[in-house]
Amino acid sequence: MSDKAQLILEGKTYEFATLEGSEKEKAIDINNLRDASGYITIDSGYKNTGATKSAITFLDGEEGILRYRGYSIEDLAEQATFLEVAYLLIYGELPTQAQYDDFENKIRRHTLVNEDMRKIFEGFPVNAHPMGVLSSLVSAMSAFYPDSYDQNAPDKTEDHIIRLLAKMPTIATWSFKKSQGHPVNYPKNDLDYCSNFLNMMFALPVEEYKPDPVVAKALNKLLILHADHEQNCSTSTVRLVGSSKANIYSSISAGICALWGPLHGGANQEVIEMLEEIKADGGDVAKYVDMAKNAKTTGFRLFGFGHRVYKNFDPRARIIKKAADDVLSTLGINDPVLEIAKGLEEAALHDEYFVSRKLYPNVDFYSGIIYRALGIPTNMFTVMFALGRLPGWIAQWKEMRANKEPIGRPRQIYTGAPLRDFVPMNAR
Ligand code: CMC
Repeated sequence: MSDKAQLILEGKTYEFATLEGSEKEKAIDINNLRDASGYITIDSGYKNTGATKSAITFLDGEEGILRYRGYSIEDLAEQATFLEVAYLLIYGELPTQAQYDDFENKIRRHTLVNEDMRKIFEGFPVNAHPMGVLSSLVSAMSAFYPDSYDQNAPDKTEDHIIRLLAKMPTIATWSFKKSQGHPVNYPKNDLDYCSNFLNMMFALPVEEYKPDPVVAKALNKLLILHADHEQNCSTSTVRLVGSSKANIYSSISAGICALWGPLHGGANQEVIEMLEEIKADGGDVAKYVDMAKNAKTTGFRLFGFGHRVYKNFDPRARIIKKAADDVLSTLGINDPVLEIAKGLEEAALHDEYFVSRKLYPNVDFYSGIIYRALGIPTNMFTVMFALGRLPGWIAQWKEMRANKEPIGRPRQIYTGAPLRDFVPMNAR
């Protein structure tokens, strides 16, 4: 692209190169702006700031398009396994059968978690939020694999990637088991990725448990739909932390913390709690739509609605809504909050407030209803999101390192006090 951007400041004209991505998104390269002009840009919340060039995920928020490495989310959710998608995100291409078998086998062989990690886990209170536990234990993994932070050790990134994918589901199930007063289950390596997770969640020593293929298939789909979403808050966190050359476990742990927030992945827990509240309050959907419209005074937002980038339907929400219908009817579950959710969506989509602000249901709106049907408790919903997002975080971390990106370090406009004289304690 040959166009130059011109900026006139204090009567002087500056020129900046522009660039274009493979899907024709355009950017102005302001790398030398401050050196040339003394100015920086301010963009709180990074609404217009591209922090990186990435070849992993393409998202068009106006058109409602999401693709991983060029493949549509619709095709992947319908036809791929989660590990196939993980491979695609991390290594750039869909695996051949041989590559897939090798990848899956390596993951199977690393599902067991060091028993000393269990001792750390035992120290958490029974009601600890599973997201806090997960981020702590993923960070603790660096202590068990010190070559992850030894800058002089040979690069073992590939081993750490396998360990993260293999062990995070095992760790994730511990919190649920403890909350039930049940013993934790060890992984069963003859099971596929999703069935193994379900087995660790729901098997009991006293009776046979067979993971339901319908449930495993639904879980596979949900994990794929969450697997990457370009430079969102948690992924940007992973890249930023990793840019200081922090190890992969610490970087992913930081991403888990960012995901936990209710404006990001934590919204899936908030949605079900909100739907339950509406149900307990008599199911008056219009009342809650009104409250959300007056968010500035009520402080209430419709969780699962709105998105920084999607100004059209979130394509993931569309797939998940259909999957929720399918899963509930196949499992013969009648969840009254599904009807409330549909009523809320219907009311919001016809309301001027939501229409004019382009607020549509997002990925978190219907996902919790499926998780619940699968038997996953509310406080584990965001953990499920984290398990799905893991390959995306890994792929983005790996790309950032491979591209030798510089340490992330935004600037600021200082608004504090100018230089002043120190005042001794007895004179304050
Ligand atoms: N309910 C009511 N009003 C809303 C909502 C909502 N859920 N979301 C945005 N608005 C309004 C907001 O009040 C503002 O109105 P006004 O122009 O009058 O000031 C306008 O819409 C724009 O909102 P914003 O907060 O400036 O938009 P943002 O891009 O900074 O925030 C968001 C995006 C996702 C944080 C926000 O829509 C939100 O808080 N949604 C609820 C939480 C949620 O569901 N998060 C999950 C996002 S998808 C999962 C993921 O993170 O990947």
